[in-house]
Amino acid sequence: TKITFISPNGEEFVVEAANGTTVMENAIRNDVPGIEAECGGACSCATCHIYVDDEWAEIVGSPEVMEEDMLDFAYDVRPTSRLSCQIRVRDELDGLVVHVPERQG
Ligand code: FES
Repeated sequence: TKITFISPNGEEFVVEAANGTTVMENAIRNDVPGIEAECGGACSCATCHIYVDDEWAEIVGSPEVMEEDMLDFAYDVRPTSRLSCQIRVRDELDGLVVHVPERQG
């Protein structure tokens, strides 16, 4: 499953992600800059914040309550904001594009 991370400066990082892993794990494994994931995926730090590309927002879906609460702590939250540790890679996300925010926290 292919995922593209786009940095605030327009730089693209294309990674190959295994189904069942999280988008955050793939960012960390591939050294995508700007994703910190301090809590290691426990949905308790909000430093894995990303913006789902508009075209993908519907397929990815919206955050659950716990994630939504944690998103309040993220910097510059937008309607397409998600915590990348809460997005699980699956076949239908092949080609997914997400944008890395200016900064975390
Ligand atoms: Fe901490 Fe996602 S890694 S909330």
